[in-house]
Amino acid sequence: MKKIMLVFGTRPEAIKMAPLVKEFQKHPEAFDTVVCVTGQHRQMLDQVLDIFDIKPDYDLNIMQAGQDLFDVTARVIVGMRDVLDQAKPNIVLVHGDTTTSTAAALAAFYRQIPVGHVEAGLRTHNIYSPWPEEMNRQLTGRIATHHFAPTPLSRQNLIDEGVPSERITVTGNTVIDALYWVVDKIKNNPTLDNELNAELRKAGYDTARLAKGHNLVLITGHRRENFGEGFISMCKAIKTLTEKYPDIDFVYPMHLNPNVRRPIHEVFGEDLSNLGNMFFIEPLEYLSFVYLMEKARIVLTDSGGIQEEAPGLGKPVLVMRDTTERPEALEAGTVRLVGTDYDRIVNEVSSLLDNPEHYNCMSQAVNPYGDGHACERIVNSYKL
Ligand code: UD1
Ligand code: UDP
Repeated sequence: MKKIMLVFGTRPEAIKMAPLVKEFQKHPEAFDTVVCVTGQHRQMLDQVLDIFDIKPDYDLNIMQAGQDLFDVTARVIVGMRDVLDQAKPNIVLVHGDTTTSTAAALAAFYRQIPVGHVEAGLRTHNIYSPWPEEMNRQLTGRIATHHFAPTPLSRQNLIDEGVPSERITVTGNTVIDALYWVVDKIKNNPTLDNELNAELRKAGYDTARLAKGHNLVLITGHRRENFGEGFISMCKAIKTLTEKYPDIDFVYPMHLNPNVRRPIHEVFGEDLSNLGNMFFIEPLEYLSFVYLMEKARIVLTDSGGIQEEAPGLGKPVLVMRDTTERPEALEAGTVRLVGTDYDRIVNEVSSLLDNPEHYNCMSQAVNPYGDGHACERIVNSYKL
């Protein structure tokens, strides 16, 4: 029996690790599955744990308002020391590129416990973009023994860095497993529709507006390298778009990071209610977010995970960044980089809204991130 510890702490890691927890739990004869959350995100993590009904065995509860990278790194490493000593896992699994993931991998290394890296091998090759995520994933990749690469390209990135090929498994991205789980749940539960609409109304957006023929642009943003000027420019572009397209609703579930909210207030004012067709709302739990994404015409974001998910729903994604570690999506034509430049954002959104040919080209492209069986492949690799 192998004792597998899955460690995660932020919203996107939780979404992408939740189906893996469930998959390991399906095999109690082979695995003792232990979940440790760091609580790097408190509320946004708990939203995901609730949806997937996961009760962590350990919770470091590290989040502090306005935490910086030093706070998170130090608190995770010190917290993991006691957890590892108590649980004594055979393998520690971490995800992606957050500070939780790198610090937890380092803690496992200090106890000489092999690390499996889920969503391994993504690279921009620019350590400041995204910052600090590119360095986080490179460091985690250096520490890891097993690498679960979502695509052949991410596998190749690892091979180029000298990782032996037998240590790499190409799996697809577990976010597609999570997405299909949610889409099925929504489809198979007729009463959920009402519940989700009520949830969204409570958060500040009434989907009944869409029945009146409104289109929807869904927006998210949170990247550290965009804080300050980048966010101001993004917000100004969004404001211009809301004026240019009064019949389209722009809905922005705001990340809880205060650095994301400050520029929104600077551009749109202190009171964010009653802004006509612009809706700033609280972060949505995953089911409501996917439900809204399904109703959106396009998605404007700097998020990593959304670049993988939205194309799975046939939604074009405009990425407010200069680089992406997801070139497969660029090549497939499902996403397009627009940076944080005011003119570029206004022009690219307008072009997608005004030009049906351009729109169809992006929305019909094939999503390269998997078939929804990534978690099975990871679990199978530990059964051997
Ligand atoms: C983190 C990750 C980033 C990931 C992002 C996903 C690092 C360094 N950054 O960035 O890679 O893409 O999450 O969203 O690992 N806050 C709350 N409640 C929450 C979550 C955040 O209040 O549930 C506020 C707190 O004031 C917190 C701040 O947001 O201090 C920043 O959170 P933090 O995890 O440090 O950074 P993110 O920008 O969320
Ligand atoms: N998401 C969510 N509620 C929201 C906004 C996003 O559940 O209000 C989900 C989204 O579907 C995706 C993930 O959160 O799976 C992305 O998280 P984020 O953009 O914070 O992080 P990143 O993927 O950039 O690391």
